[in-house]
Amino acid sequence: MDVRQTANQQKYDFTASVYDIIAFLMSLGQVKRIYHEVAQALDHASTTIVELGCGPASVTPYLLETVGSSSQIIGIDFSKKMIKIANQKKVNNGWENVEFECMDIYDFPGNKKADIVIFCLALTAIPNATRALQKAISILKPGGQLIIADSFPLHSRWWHPFTNFYISVKSLVVGAKPTKDVLNFIEKNMVDIKAKEMVGGIYTVITARKW
Ligand SMILES: C[S@@+](CC[C@H](N)C(=O)[O-])C[C@H]1O[C@@H](n2cnc3c(N)ncnc32)[C@H](O)[C@@H]1O
Repeated sequence: MDVRQTANQQKYDFTASVYDIIAFLMSLGQVKRIYHEVAQALDHASTTIVELGCGPASVTPYLLETVGSSSQIIGIDFSKKMIKIANQKKVNNGWENVEFECMDIYDFPGNKKADIVIFCLALTAIPNATRALQKAISILKPGGQLIIADSFPLHSRWWHPFTNFYISVKSLVVGAKPTKDVLNFIEKNMVDIKAKEMVGGIYTVITARKW
């Protein structure tokens, strides 16, 4: 693991116990709407869903509301503390079809394939978003769905300069790297792309499909 990855891992271990509060504040209180939108975007009823950078299982209850016990959900995170909290939630809520594994996303086994891969508020938290997207595509089955919820710089509406200013400040605070590379990569490498702006464009929920 490179130095930036290690620093990132330590940062998330350190903030795990207050992560949900930070996400609430940084999203201007809108984080639950974003989780709900991610769950609504799921397009299969009975599938294998892999969430990369699952944190303390923040979006898991919303995914379960949509898919119930029909799907297998695998959450991956390299922060031991995040995974510990996620596993506590699994036990407390009796989530039998959910597993959490503590690993770097790049170590996710090449022979395990998923119908849906999700990055929920995680992609721009990973130092090289393009490499992370390549990994996600390698996990997806052909025709599989990628769902991303994150902050990206936008340039089509009059208010986007204000939105982009907030995104820059937020990313300094949380140590993320909002980049247009993600949108460019998805346009070049995926099909059936849909994007929905939320919270005035501070967040975008993207769905796309592997060829
Ligand atoms: C901002 S949190 C998102 C948490 C959660 N998905 C949510 O919906 O709020 C980003 C998470 O990505 C994880 N992460 C960052 N880089 C990672 C990597 N290379 N491998 C695994 N997890 C990673 C961090 O540990 C952190 O828990």
